Amino acid sequence: MKIVACYSIKGGVGKTATAINLAYAAAQDGLRTLICDLDPQGASSYYFRVRPSTKLKADTFFTRRDRLVRNIKGSDYPRLDILPANLAYRDFDQMLAGMKKSRLRLSQLLHSLSDEYDLVVLDCPPNITILSENIFHASDQVVVPVIPTTLSQRTFSQLLGFYKESNLKRKSLLPFFSMVEQRKRMHNEVRQDMRKAYKRFLQSEVPYSVDVENMGVTREPLLVTQPRSPAALAFTQLWRELKQRSNGVSQGELKGAKDGD
Ligand SMILES: Nc1ncnc2c1ncn2[C@@H]1O[C@H](COP(=O)(O)OP(=O)(O)OP(=O)(O)O)[C@@H](O)[C@H]1O
Ligand SMILES: [Mg+2]
Repeated sequence: MKIVACYSIKGGVGKTATAINLAYAAAQDGLRTLICDLDPQGASSYYFRVRPSTKLKADTFFTRRDRLVRNIKGSDYPRLDILPANLAYRDFDQMLAGMKKSRLRLSQLLHSLSDEYDLVVLDCPPNITILSENIFHASDQVVVPVIPTTLSQRTFSQLLGFYKESNLKRKSLLPFFSMVEQRKRMHNEVRQDMRKAYKRFLQSEVPYSVDVENMGVTREPLLVTQPRSPAALAFTQLWRELKQRSNGVSQGELKGAKDGD
């Protein structure tokens, strides 16, 4: 089983939009997929038209696997299930702080579902907390949407610094540009700078698009409602790129192989 987190310290950067479309793409690709909503806001639960689970509290989430499994709901799509969030998840950090092996609890819990699922996609809340550290330890790939602005550049450096200090595997940290507007000079300059500074930046870029905003109205993945739209194609490309990376092949290597290098 693989675990992919959609994570950023920053809010409103496209984590949920990405998690939903990646999870859908993976399920379409034949993987038994669970999207795990870790954000008390419950946005991905809302997009999938699933009611919040009021019974699953922050403490039972980590200690009662049976209750957690009972709270997993089917979605409208084959092979795609969802574990919805609720407001009680705001107490995760307080709970985790009092537990032994407090940074490894999420990893242990999710791996206990490995007979049922091939992939877990985590929709993460914005911030950097003990829950975030659990997310870093649990995930094979931490996908970070970055809006190309100087402030995002700074926040991404903070995240890299945290990984370094905490001896976490920086290889698993995979940023990509989100809400890209080609006509903005700052977006173009920041993209160039950040690609130079961080070689593992994913090639896929998701454009700024009202189609993504409209997901709040349709409450379906963009890949369902407008699969040929530029943003949907970008999410599909992002999923392919993640698959290639998890097989140890980068886009550059693929291109090199095609070019006969
Ligand atoms: N590529 C995009 N183009 C235009 N709007 C977008 C795009 N991606 C996301 N949005 C919109 O921006 C807002 C924030 O997106 P989203 O909820 O995915 O971000 P988030 O990082 O999960 O936010 P939060 O930190 O609050 O959980 C939403 O209204 C969403 O519709
Ligand atoms: Mg979100």
